[in-house]
Amino acid sequence: MSHDTFPNLTVIDHPLIQHKLAVLRDRETSKKKFKELVDEIAMLMAYEVTKDLPLAPVQVETPLETMTAYEVAGKKLTVVPILRAGLGMVDGVVRLMPGVRVGHIGLYRDHDTLQPVDYYFKIPAGAENRDFLVLDPMLATGGSAAAAVASLKRNGAKRVRMLCLVAAPEGVRRMLDDHPDVHVYTAALDRELNDVGYILPGLGDAGDRLFGTK
Ligand code: PRP
Ligand code: URA
Repeated sequence: MSHDTFPNLTVIDHPLIQHKLAVLRDRETSKKKFKELVDEIAMLMAYEVTKDLPLAPVQVETPLETMTAYEVAGKKLTVVPILRAGLGMVDGVVRLMPGVRVGHIGLYRDHDTLQPVDYYFKIPAGAENRDFLVLDPMLATGGSAAAAVASLKRNGAKRVRMLCLVAAPEGVRRMLDDHPDVHVYTAALDRELNDVGYILPGLGDAGDRLFGTK
């Protein structure tokens, strides 16, 4: 569903995704279950996000005759998780598209300033000709996502999309201001940020819940 206020946003409101997201948000959900759900939701969302991939004809010999079938055209997608929490989304996407390349961007949000601090960057060569999908469960102030996309663009990326699970209006606005060419897909657009930059109602700290840190 495209969004009236944010032209850069699609909320994927498939019932299975919404159901799994409800369990994910629950504070009583265990770390093990949380990890499984992030993985499953990422896979279901990737299915939706890739529905416009271009196809090219290919000749296939079935056991009975030769036919023209269709396969995904062009270079394989490159997924780029923002560490740490984005890592939880990688396996689900890779299960759907085993041929994807995986880049990594290491960023954390400084607790006091809420500004992103970067510590790692590695993507496949030939960024100019690749389609990138940035993965991070949480789009809060948007500082991390905006910085990640800026790094990708500095390294040559031209076509970037972003996949998150929960977004705050502030983060979607930040992405629209900084990177209007980058479409954001989310399972939910939540109400607002609290005064320490957490999404309300949100699901808490995604990295801590995934990896059992606190
Ligand atoms: C979380 C989350 C995003 C970022 C979102 O990561 O996974 O990367 O915060 O916040 P923002 O939109 O305000 O930048 P965090 O910085 O907690 O690092 P972690 O994944 O290593 O826990
Ligand atoms: N990062 C998280 O993990 N959760 C939030 O609500 C905001 C930033």
